[in-house]
Amino acid sequence: MTGRFWEGAVIAVAAVVLSAGVAGAKEVDWGALNPEYREATFVKDTGVCLGCHEEVHAAYAETTHGKAFRFNPRNALQKLDCEACHGPRSKHIEDPDDRLALRTLAAAQRSAICLQCHQDGGRMHWRSGAHQAAGQSCSDCHSVMRKRSDRGLLSAESEQAVCYTCHANVRAEAQKASHHPIREGKIRCSDCHNPHGSVTRGMLAGGSVNQTCYSCHQEKRGPFLWEHAPVRESCLTCHTPHGSNNRDLLNLKGPAQCISCHQYGGHVNQFRYNRVSTPYGNGCVNCHVTVHGSNHPSGAKFNR
Ligand code: HEC
Ligand code: HEC
Ligand code: HEC
Ligand code: HEC
Ligand code: HEC
Ligand code: HEC
Ligand code: HEC
Ligand code: HEC
Ligand code: HEC
Ligand code: HEC
Repeated sequence: MTGRFWEGAVIAVAAVVLSAGVAGAKEVDWGALNPEYREATFVKDTGVCLGCHEEVHAAYAETTHGKAFRFNPRNALQKLDCEACHGPRSKHIEDPDDRLALRTLAAAQRSAICLQCHQDGGRMHWRSGAHQAAGQSCSDCHSVMRKRSDRGLLSAESEQAVCYTCHANVRAEAQKASHHPIREGKIRCSDCHNPHGSVTRGMLAGGSVNQTCYSCHQEKRGPFLWEHAPVRESCLTCHTPHGSNNRDLLNLKGPAQCISCHQYGGHVNQFRYNRVSTPYGNGCVNCHVTVHGSNHPSGAKFNR
């Protein structure tokens, strides 16, 4: 190929012009992703692509990107349309066999293409999150060429369907008798998790387990006059988040939950107090009605 030096200069200039015109978005170094891109320039004409790719167009035009890039491009990157994600394509239109397919790139490289524009907010911890670490990329959950969900360009109709393709164990949990109403569609995985990564273990949406739970169960936040130590430590000392065969998402059945810590003398060790099958059935909470904390002046034993 001739004129490579000249083309290189054009790319360098184009890159400067692009990044100068882009607010909050930063163009990826295509040449670093795949050296083949170094020899190509941006065509900057969706019409040219559609000349040969009419088949993808109808579906793509219905997507958030298809609409935004066509009708309301807010910077030079968005104006590239197809090439914002597929990279400089002059070589490909000269020789379609030069496909520069995205699937030949590593997962992290494919994500880097999306992060040109989506480094913000929710994706702040993507690079330290469990999904990137496990080799997942944006397109494992998102479908960008075709709209498959009502919102969020998800790769399946509902969010839970997307997550369950890989997290079958959580689906099984959520089928149990006591469960967070995920399958009823009242809450979503992403109410508690940030699938893009977060600073907490388990990629939680809140700053900790308890902060996450308080976002909906505010009445458990306190502060209480009488605090019950394990509640402040973590809701998960007694509860499991997705589902349980014990009532109220408890880890253990009835009194067993309490006895796992309170084994010393007195009534706690008497049969009629600590067996599920006794008249006190649910056990301890029949009398200790405020296990999450009490504001009653004489609620030190969580009896009121
Ligand atoms: C001269 C015809 C032609 C033009 C113009 C053209 N393509 Fe292609 N493209 C093809 C052919 C042929 C293939 C390979 C067959 C297929 O997968 O459809 C292809 C494949 C692709 C692929 C899939 C690569 C893979 O294997 O996964 C992408 C992405 C692509 N083209 C993007 C573009 C973009 C973006 C433009 C506009 C800048 C463009 N094409 C312009 C003919 C063309
Ligand atoms: C927001 C990024 C993005 C934009 C914009 C985009 N694509 Fe794609 N395209 C992808 C990704 C990612 C894939 C592969 C996986 C998938 O289908 O989600 C892909 C796949 C393709 C394929 C391979 C065949 C297929 O359907 O899998 C073709 C051809 C293609 N795109 C052409 C285009 C054309 C033409 C445009 C502009 C009209 C365009 N794309 C705009 C990201 C994008
Ligand atoms: C050139 C910039 C750019 C690139 C590259 C880009 N996006 Fe976007 N994306 C946008 C814009 C603009 C919107 C419209 C929403 C907005 O105004 O922020 C958007 C919206 C989205 C949405 C929300 C859609 C909805 O309907 O709620 C998702 C999900 C998304 N992009 C995923 C991706 C993925 C995955 C990739 C890589 C395959 C990608 N984007 C690449 C600019 C980009
Ligand atoms: C494990 C699945 C998963 C992965 C991987 C993933 N996302 Fe998402 N993404 C989601 C879910 C779920 C939503 C929420 C959709 C909704 O609004 O209902 C979302 C929403 C978004 C949105 C729109 C709302 C917002 O936060 O601005 C954008 C943009 C987005 N994702 C971009 C990306 C990009 C870029 C990547 C790769 C770096 C990526 N996502 C990887 C699951 C994922
Ligand atoms: C393409 C497969 C895939 C999809 C889809 C997927 N995940 Fe994951 N996820 C993984 C892998 C792999 C890991 C890391 C290994 C593990 O913990 O199972 C992981 C880990 C996690 C973790 C544990 C993080 C940690 O720090 O231990 C959470 C939480 C999670 N995913 C939530 C989600 C949610 C919510 C969705 C849907 C929005 C989703 N995942 C969709 C593959 C996937
Ligand atoms: C009510 C909040 C909540 C909802 C809703 C929720 N999770 Fe979780 N999830 C958690 C908490 C809390 C943990 C434990 C984090 C820790 O280890 O400290 C967790 C752990 C996980 C883990 C890692 C451990 C494991 O069990 O494999 C995965 C994966 C996961 N959740 C996926 C999902 C998926 C997929 C959905 C939706 C179907 C979902 N979660 C819905 C709160 C929630
Ligand atoms: C996005 C909101 C939301 C978040 C966050 C949330 N929950 Fe819930 N929780 C609910 C809803 C909705 C119900 C069902 C209430 C109902 O049916 O009356 C529920 C029910 C419960 C129940 C009773 C279950 C039963 O079988 O009746 C427990 C226990 C519970 N949540 C604990 C937690 C814990 C622990 C966390 C933090 C890991 C948490 N929740 C986070 C919304 C949430
Ligand atoms: C010491 C064990 C323990 C800890 C820790 C704990 N809970 Fe509970 N939780 C219980 C028991 C026992 C029940 C059943 C109470 C009953 O039947 O009176 C319950 C019931 C619930 C319920 C359903 C009934 C109601 O009171 O609304 C919710 C919601 C709940 N817990 C949320 C939380 C949250 C949020 C946290 C963390 C801030 C938490 N729990 C920490 C033991 C605990
Ligand atoms: C993870 C361990 C743990 C679990 C589980 C637990 N507790 Fe506690 N509980 C404590 C600690 C620690 C204290 C404060 C230290 C103390 O006074 O013994 C406490 C204090 C109490 C007190 C007041 C004790 C006093 O002497 O003032 C009562 C009553 C109580 N818990 C009842 C319960 C009941 C009922 C349950 C079951 C729903 C339960 N606890 C589950 C650890 C636990
Ligand atoms: C019939 C009602 C009742 C039941 C059932 C009950 N308690 Fe109590 N518990 C009390 C009363 C009343 C006190 C307060 C005694 C006091 O103020 O001196 C108390 C006190 C306690 C204390 C504080 C230390 C002590 O012994 O005085 C702990 C811990 C405790 N209960 C745990 C439990 C556990 C665990 C269970 C279930 C195995 C349970 N209780 C079942 C009524 C009950």
